[in-house]
Amino acid sequence: MRAYVLLVASIAALGGLLFGYDTGVISGAILFISKQFALDDRLQAFTISVVLIGCIAASAVAGSVADRIGRRPTLFAAGCVFLLGALLSAFAAGEAALLCGRFVVGIGIGLSSVVAPLYISEVSPAPTRGALVSLYQFAITIGILAAYIVDYVLAGGGQWRWMLGLAVVPSLVLMGGMVRMPESPRYLFKIGKRDRAREELDRIYEDPAASKLEEDSIAASLNVKRGGLRALLSPAIRPALVVGISLAVLQQVTGINSVIYYGPRIFEMAGVGSAAASILAQSLVGAVNCGMTLVAIFFVDRVGRKPLLYAGLSGMFVALTVMAYAFSQPHLSGSLGTIALVSMMAYVGCFAFSFGPILWLLISEIFPLPVRGAGMSVSTLANWVGNFAVSQSFLGMVERLGSPATFGAYAVLCIVTIVFVRTMVPETKQELLEQVRVGAA
Ligand code: BGC
Repeated sequence: MRAYVLLVASIAALGGLLFGYDTGVISGAILFISKQFALDDRLQAFTISVVLIGCIAASAVAGSVADRIGRRPTLFAAGCVFLLGALLSAFAAGEAALLCGRFVVGIGIGLSSVVAPLYISEVSPAPTRGALVSLYQFAITIGILAAYIVDYVLAGGGQWRWMLGLAVVPSLVLMGGMVRMPESPRYLFKIGKRDRAREELDRIYEDPAASKLEEDSIAASLNVKRGGLRALLSPAIRPALVVGISLAVLQQVTGINSVIYYGPRIFEMAGVGSAAASILAQSLVGAVNCGMTLVAIFFVDRVGRKPLLYAGLSGMFVALTVMAYAFSQPHLSGSLGTIALVSMMAYVGCFAFSFGPILWLLISEIFPLPVRGAGMSVSTLANWVGNFAVSQSFLGMVERLGSPATFGAYAVLCIVTIVFVRTMVPETKQELLEQVRVGAA
């Protein structure tokens, strides 16, 4: 892999780092914010979820923005929005200003969650595309872990403004980095700047023959179809749309963010005594999430997307079933409590090497170039709506149905996902982006 391509992908992946940091950091900060601004439960919950509303709004338009002004300026704009959001939140004088800041942060996350994987996928050579887009997920997990650690370190002094404000640093690096990054060669072709596109392809591929092959395949794909939302609904593209939206929703409804957002609460349910032990256990979840993503980076271009998905989803199913069993017992202490905690880690680890990165990878691969921005937007929007639904419903489900039924429902959805992958999802390993076909597309 060329160092140049790795650098470009790593800078863009900072969008993922901010995604992870900004979604993770609030869990610790909210304890102090709610004290300072005397928030009731309803306002607390809204302070947490207003970010997701920003994500939903921005991911809906991010694809068309990236198609209109380009991938690079959109990612640069995301960096500016992250910066503004971090400053507004850190200096918020009251709850209204804080809500406003967190909404702006959500817009940054929504923009980058569409454009960062799209951009990385488009600048990557086919043989290493899986690893490079998985870097984006790796950055998300580093962001989440960093947020847990920052929360832990700053909790002593109740410094919530610093917790939220520290996002300024990666935002500035993302902005500075994107100024120097190239535009995606595929976008350049799309807008007719063929010479510049060719130059970029030559920088990506060491081998001129491979660069030429890619160029021909991009050119052919552009002759075929026009873009836009209407084209997305055309019979040829519809199967890809169904796959994109379904996978995006399934990634959420198999429950990952119940653990990422409410881990300490689950630990409490599993009998972990002190708050400090819960926070420590949550940091362990963050570390497992981060470490196991490396497995995907290593294997995704070697064994392929589908085998990793089968392995990960099966592991998630087993872990959730064990958790459901453990939580159904009257007393969750001693070895049963340990089994529940180990299963929870195993569940996160299995997600991390499979569905976590591969969702972002697949939705950046399955749409033909003319509709790639729109297709990524709609799929990512579905992912954020699923995220909102699960994070809003988790505690209520546990209260009404009980935790065994809640984890059991996530387990069943893992099986549904395996069947869906088997019947609907193409293997995209080693294919040029333009060769990827879903159904009749
Ligand atoms: C998901 C997020 C999740 C994260 C956990 C991402 O792929 O889209 O919702 O919080 O993984 O690592």
